[in-house]
Amino acid sequence: MYKLFFNLVFKHMDPEKAHYLAFRWIRGAARTPVLRTFVAAALAPRYKELRTEALGLRMHGPFGLAAGFDKNAVAIDGMAMLGFDHVEIGTVTGEPQPGNPKKRLFRLVADRALINRMGFNNEGSLAVAARLASRNPVFKTTVGVNIGKTKVVPEAEAVGDYVKSTERLAAFADYLVVNVSSPNTPGLRNLQATQALRPLLTAVREAADRTVRSRRVPLLVKIAPDLADEDIDAVADLAVELGLDGIIATNTTIKREGLATEGEVVNETGGLSGAPLKERSLEVLRRLYARVGDKITLVGVGGVENAEDAWQRILAGATLVQGYSAFIYEGPFYARAVHKGLAARLRTSPYATLADAIGADVKENTSA
Ligand SMILES: Cc1cc2nc3c(=O)[nH]c(=O)nc-3n(C[C@H](O)[C@H](O)[C@H](O)COP(=O)(O)O)c2cc1C
Repeated sequence: MYKLFFNLVFKHMDPEKAHYLAFRWIRGAARTPVLRTFVAAALAPRYKELRTEALGLRMHGPFGLAAGFDKNAVAIDGMAMLGFDHVEIGTVTGEPQPGNPKKRLFRLVADRALINRMGFNNEGSLAVAARLASRNPVFKTTVGVNIGKTKVVPEAEAVGDYVKSTERLAAFADYLVVNVSSPNTPGLRNLQATQALRPLLTAVREAADRTVRSRRVPLLVKIAPDLADEDIDAVADLAVELGLDGIIATNTTIKREGLATEGEVVNETGGLSGAPLKERSLEVLRRLYARVGDKITLVGVGGVENAEDAWQRILAGATLVQGYSAFIYEGPFYARAVHKGLAARLRTSPYATLADAIGADVKENTSA
């Protein structure tokens, strides 16, 4: 049904316009009590066996919405209604900014992929904090807050910008993510180098602790798939050393390898996401798990299209799994299909619980 609709309507629309149209429908449905109850019953069935504990939080399941879809925290209930077990809002920057000029989002339909150079278009930390403060949640869901650097802030002052966002947003975050991996803010990915990352993560940790005294807000870092293997190891070691709670792997890639789509669109500047990212994202996750094991929580994202992909991420070491691009291609039944398939996969697996399956592939290979 959705695929037919996608081919007849969305495919012919500008991708960003289609995004906002779908977004309006989701928000509208979530605001209408009868409709949202009906939709949630159909799309967000709960599976006892998928209940997940991660980052000190209890969730209905391991599968959530990756950052970038709901940058301004306007549709958390809507996304929970569609079955996402956690919703990562943002990236939010210290100051509001319009992002890059349009067109800045492109579909590579033959590859089930997207290229985006949105450039952190968002209302800024003050406005998003105010929205989160006045939020009256309908569905109980985990809310991650992903923060990044304001474009006009020089790299040398990046820490202050992240600290500002942390002070404003940490109180509303079930977990906080330091995003240093978007390819669309000049210089941002340089912050992944440990000499820049160490002071940044330390300052954000301190700011979160200073601002929120009643609990310890879990802190994660989100990394790019284009890091060299030694740099992945270095980030992993640093995360353990600093007592970070998790790593999200991965953001979009600037590489363009093995694409089926033809034409100029593949040369658009920006980050590539979706199916072509699957292999590298999984590889990064495996490498991280081999390095950190169960010391910190890993979140697997990049090309997760279905339950089998989610299962592979769990076997590779992910406690939580996220998706974005496949939601565009699979539509509202995406999360439901992942849950249903994951529950079935677990039942036929040798593992009694999802937690037992985490990293099983990597453990097997390292003990062999
Ligand atoms: C249009 C678009 C915007 C995105 N914006 C953000 C963002 O603001 N912050 C972020 O950390 N990741 C952002 N991402 C990256 C996703 O969160 C995710 O890491 C990446 O797309 C890989 O997952 P996927 O293959 O399931 O899409 C964005 C992705 C897309 C497609």
